[in-house]
Amino acid sequence: MGRVGRLDRAGARGVRPARRRTAEDVAVGAQVSQLLAPVAAGLPDGARVLAPDIEFTSNLFPWLVHADRGVTVEVVPAAKLAEAIDARTTLVTFSLVQSATGEIAPVDDIVAAARHHGSLVCVDATQAAGWLPTRAGSFDVLACSAYKWLAAPRGCAFCYLSPLLRDRLRPLYAGWYAGEDVHDSYYGPPLRLASSARRFDLSPAWFAYVGAAPALELLAEVGVEAIHHHNVTLANRFLAGLGLPGTDSAIVTVAAAGAEERLARAGVRAAVRAGRVRASFHLYTRVADVDRAVDALTSSGHPPTS
Ligand SMILES: Cc1ncc(COP(=O)(O)O)c(C=O)c1O
Repeated sequence: MGRVGRLDRAGARGVRPARRRTAEDVAVGAQVSQLLAPVAAGLPDGARVLAPDIEFTSNLFPWLVHADRGVTVEVVPAAKLAEAIDARTTLVTFSLVQSATGEIAPVDDIVAAARHHGSLVCVDATQAAGWLPTRAGSFDVLACSAYKWLAAPRGCAFCYLSPLLRDRLRPLYAGWYAGEDVHDSYYGPPLRLASSARRFDLSPAWFAYVGAAPALELLAEVGVEAIHHHNVTLANRFLAGLGLPGTDSAIVTVAAAGAEERLARAGVRAAVRAGRVRASFHLYTRVADVDRAVDALTSSGHPPTS
């Protein structure tokens, strides 16, 4: 390990080496907030973090808990994130797909601005991994909970940590499972952690991972590109049925009076987020489901608005 416990901006600037990312670069854990905690703890005192104002709190609170040592979190509208990055930004963090709105982040613009100013880039892929093709190696950190689009039970999460970055982080929750040889790591000193990202592994909640394995195998078998096409086609069909333009996101939100109740009466489940009905479309959604939802929303009352 390098200068463990303190992240600086060295290494954040410039182009990343074109190395194939492997399982060696990924740590397993239980939640996004847990996996981001060592990254936040590695930020220097007085670090400046930049994030979207509607960011899910599991990607805000891990940074905000360091306020007492001068770490600040500045929030801006998601669409203005790239232009808000400047030479003072230690780390920019954002969801690839926003939980509240389904908005897809302009990744290339954000990464280009961050690299230009020497800022680290952290991504929450919880609402994206499983349907939006993504390359973890474009970022310094990519964390995701697996209980959404990866169809795994609650309690499984993954975190890509770039080799440059992880060498500067303290593996804060290291236990036997983070050992280089797991089965030789049960008892007694010395510290003998894995040299790969596995030293950030949290010992797994067994039953959750038993469920995660076949879920991930199925997604891999179908393929993320095919799932992306399926989900976005259905989401855009839903919006078109309501007379609204497509957004090419698998998560869409609409404002419609009483929409949640009308959908529930038709047997369609949708959540309300930020005062709007949020509908999601995945592998198991069929055209008939979409049309049923559209019928429920257009048969009477006020038509939804974008
Ligand atoms: C973007 C995002 N990140 C994280 C989570 C879950 O957070 P955690 O894994 O910390 O429980 C959610 C849940 O809705 C989410 O939408």
